[in-house]
Amino acid sequence: MKGKRISDLVVGLAVVALAGIAFLLWSQSQSVAKAVEQQENDPESRVVAVMQKMEVHVERLYYSGRDQDWEQAKQALEAVSGAANHLYHRNLLYGEINISAAAESVLPDEFKRLGDVIQRRDREAFLREYRQMIQICNSCHRATGQIAVVQEPPSRERRDLH
Ligand code: HEC
Repeated sequence: MKGKRISDLVVGLAVVALAGIAFLLWSQSQSVAKAVEQQENDPESRVVAVMQKMEVHVERLYYSGRDQDWEQAKQALEAVSGAANHLYHRNLLYGEINISAAAESVLPDEFKRLGDVIQRRDREAFLREYRQMIQICNSCHRATGQIAVVQEPPSRERRDLH
């Protein structure tokens, strides 16, 4: 009789534990669903859309800085950071990684440093800072298991060299 009560208790506890785990999984899937819904409602903030936009302007940024067209470089940087803005404060998840928080923790500071060297019209410092930015882009790509590694110098330049 006593044994039966203990086993009831164990079964009861297991049910509670399972419910807890189920709730955890449910609440996680809710936050993923919410992030997905946000991305669908606002196509500009879809991670892949932001990335493609950044890539286009990052390439323009490289060539204009290299050729010391500082006005163009300034505009390109504004476009890159404008695209990146769509990621911040949104809690967009990529798998289990909060892309919004990760991007916001690394990109704005680097954009600021690039803005400074463009302002100073310093080509050498620009090329250093540009390289630094590409490393930041790629460190997140590695962390999220992306093979789309951005090249430095950009791919067009590599093709020009061959
Ligand atoms: C916080 C993380 C993070 C940072 C920082 C980041 N990326 Fe990405 N990037 C991703 C993720 C995640 C994907 C995959 C998106 C997908 O396939 O849905 C991606 C994909 C890409 C792609 C491939 C897009 C395609 O067509 O599939 C390019 C190009 C790209 N990123 C460029 C950049 C550039 C340029 C920077 C820096 C200015 C940058 N990324 C910074 C996370 C990041």
